[in-house]
Amino acid sequence: MGNGIAQVAARAGFDVVMRDVADEFLARGMKAIDKSLQRDVDKERLSAEEKAIIISRIKTTTDIASLSSAFIVVEAVTEDLGVKTEVFRSLDGVTGPEAILASNTSSISITKLGATTRRPDKVIGMHFMNPVPVMKLVEIIRGAATSDETYEKTRALTAKLGKVPLECHDSPGFISNRVLMPMINEAIFALYEGVASRESIDGIMKLGMNHPMGPLTLADFIGLDVCLAIMNVLHDGFGDSKYRPCPLLKRYVDAGWLGRKSGRGFYEY
Ligand SMILES: NC(=O)c1ccc[n+]([C@@H]2O[C@H](COP(=O)([O-])OP(=O)(O)OC[C@H]3O[C@@H](n4cnc5c(N)ncnc54)[C@H](O)[C@@H]3O)[C@@H](O)[C@H]2O)c1
Repeated sequence: MGNGIAQVAARAGFDVVMRDVADEFLARGMKAIDKSLQRDVDKERLSAEEKAIIISRIKTTTDIASLSSAFIVVEAVTEDLGVKTEVFRSLDGVTGPEAILASNTSSISITKLGATTRRPDKVIGMHFMNPVPVMKLVEIIRGAATSDETYEKTRALTAKLGKVPLECHDSPGFISNRVLMPMINEAIFALYEGVASRESIDGIMKLGMNHPMGPLTLADFIGLDVCLAIMNVLHDGFGDSKYRPCPLLKRYVDAGWLGRKSGRGFYEY
């Protein structure tokens, strides 16, 4: 997600510093950016010169101090509260006092991340969708202490990136995953209970609701471990049994059948 965000920011004309913990991850990120932009060159949506200029706007580093002059940092590290807390503490120390600290988290509380810094008014959620260069939406999440000024600046920046900012308050799953994941979980329950085959469930939702892919295919694409983690966030956050993850989803994750990335999920790849 981080390389996708760097790519759209550079394409919109911003100078970007992309930071990771090791050079090999940065190289992988730059390769993904190159491949994505090359696709646009091949389709004649971008010239080779423009591609080179976009890439030249992105500097890579493993040193967090290189972010010191940024006016905004968009954090997109591993979805783990401990890792993100550590990153936010460090960012709070190295960036200027006016810098906005945004998180691309799918499920972690923005209010909690803000509270680990001395500037909770400047901490906000910028939830990009995957793949970042293609998807129009950025869900903008306001933590309990996020100021109107931070929100306005983030909204304006998102529009400059060519994306559509839509606002919501900090609440488990925000809007996107609160609505999407229970639908996917329900599809898994239907499969678990033998109500229909995987093909039938996906076909009914795809053809009947005009969804681009069925919920089981989508779960495989997202990753079943990610789906389970988000259902657990909803279940714990609301304390409501309507969010309990389906036992079949748990069983697949226990078996290491995580979807596309592991070669098997509800389908085989
Ligand atoms: N994958 C998706 O579809 C998706 C969609 C929306 C939001 N998100 C969110 O985006 C974030 C990243 O997800 P991803 O799928 O790109 O994960 P990923 O595991 O593919 O990438 C995370 C990157 O962060 C790096 N990293 C880990 N610790 C770090 C640290 N301390 N400092 C700097 N870099 C560090 C890792 O080396 C890795 O390159 C998560 O918060 C996730 O919830 C993901």
